[in-house]
Amino acid sequence: PAPPCTLVIFGAGGDLTKRLLMPALYNLAGGGLLDQKFSVLGVDHNPLTDDGWRDDLTGTMESFTKDTSAEFHAERIDPRSWGFIRERLHVMQGDFSEEATFRDLAGRLTGNVVFYLAVSARFFGPIVKGLGKAGLLKQGDGAFRRVVIEKPFGVDLASAKALNETILAQGDESQFYRIDHFLGKETVQSILALRFANALLEPIWRSEYVDHVEITAAETIGVEERGRFYEPTGALRDMVPNHLFQLLTMVAMEPPGSFDAEAVRDEKTRLVTAIRPVSPQDAVRGQYAAGREEGKAVPAYRDEPDVAKDSRTETYVALKLAIDNPRWSGVPFYLRTGKRLADRHTAITVHFKPAPFTLFRGADGDEPASNVMRLNIDPEPGSFTGLNVKRPGPQMHLAAIESGFRYADFFDPAPTVGYETLLYDCMMGDPTLFQRADTIEASWAAVDPLIKAWKDAPVCLYPAGSPGPKEAEELLSRDGRAWLPLG
Ligand code: BG6
Repeated sequence: PAPPCTLVIFGAGGDLTKRLLMPALYNLAGGGLLDQKFSVLGVDHNPLTDDGWRDDLTGTMESFTKDTSAEFHAERIDPRSWGFIRERLHVMQGDFSEEATFRDLAGRLTGNVVFYLAVSARFFGPIVKGLGKAGLLKQGDGAFRRVVIEKPFGVDLASAKALNETILAQGDESQFYRIDHFLGKETVQSILALRFANALLEPIWRSEYVDHVEITAAETIGVEERGRFYEPTGALRDMVPNHLFQLLTMVAMEPPGSFDAEAVRDEKTRLVTAIRPVSPQDAVRGQYAAGREEGKAVPAYRDEPDVAKDSRTETYVALKLAIDNPRWSGVPFYLRTGKRLADRHTAITVHFKPAPFTLFRGADGDEPASNVMRLNIDPEPGSFTGLNVKRPGPQMHLAAIESGFRYADFFDPAPTVGYETLLYDCMMGDPTLFQRADTIEASWAAVDPLIKAWKDAPVCLYPAGSPGPKEAEELLSRDGRAWLPLG
């Protein structure tokens, strides 16, 4: 198990705590990964009692047995695992901007503590300042004090820098764990194994053999109840410098000298720094109009709650990126993400150049399909290779086939909501899967020119339930390429 510690959750009554943190703790308890002396102290603006909070969370955990759409679903809640967590839950009321809250906390905490900021981003700075001032980030006698910070980490380069400055005035970089939940996804972590542990792949993962790389994070859901957050944010800030760039670093970074956290994170920063600032000609911003999703009529983004009727916020982004380093020189990376698209699917596809010998390029147009390696992240983790074989029959004709593997076919599915590894790693003191200050700043630096250029730019509308705006198709077709079909 992880070392004994208290997990202090700011935002105890919030959605993240209910939907993700509690199920993740429950799964960790089920795996025997929490120490007997582990405990949770929730902090919330609203008055909550230990028993009230325990009952609320028990109710939510039970409700997951009926809700198959939630991140966490179980046939039944195991009373031992949940009992382990439940009896360790305590809560206190506190205003995140009041000194008194942190004084109270200081009176209650000793030893190892992980502070989890499951709160709106505007509280990140004030909470870390409060912790620092109250002496709660001082580490001594072998005890650790760590802070987990959710996204969004800043809204542009300047604000991310300012936030880094604020928090690093209160503690050391090694104490801050900036979460990107995409790094908790099993297939994302497996990309490095696939790339660097396979002699079949490692030598060809470069510009001599790779034609282009496609990264897609397509969602079918709309903005839901998050209009207030989403309106000033948009798809670019919400998904690109964080989730999509993390996928990009995994698929494109140089091999680190070791799996030491700093070695891995050094390479990530190096890769992100090599992204050429995106020009508006290489970017498409879209917004969903009314349409149909899974057979049901759904409203336009502009008709969602808390969204302006004339909103120009993008719910879709497609980008063509260049990476200025020897490995990827001349290889475009096409990234796209959007809400209310035809399909829910997150995948990275590496498209290889044609085999050098043109034996099969016959007059009958029997062109070999280009080889691809698709790393599926959601909804069904696995990886697939597109190859050419001979079609059975007397004549020599090619057929494109897919050979693949699904995680579920090889491994017992471990119950996960994607936060287990991240929470466990933080308690263990392993920051490999968390973002360092320099990586975050380099990521914002790469998209900042686009954020500025898009300030007054129009959006291209696409019908909900479609593959996205036609302008995104053109972004690739002008290069003689096409996205893999959605839906
Ligand atoms: C979040 C974004 O960080 O990631 C959401 O704020 C998005 O807008 C979500 O829906 C996607 O995550 P996942 O794991 O569902 O692909």
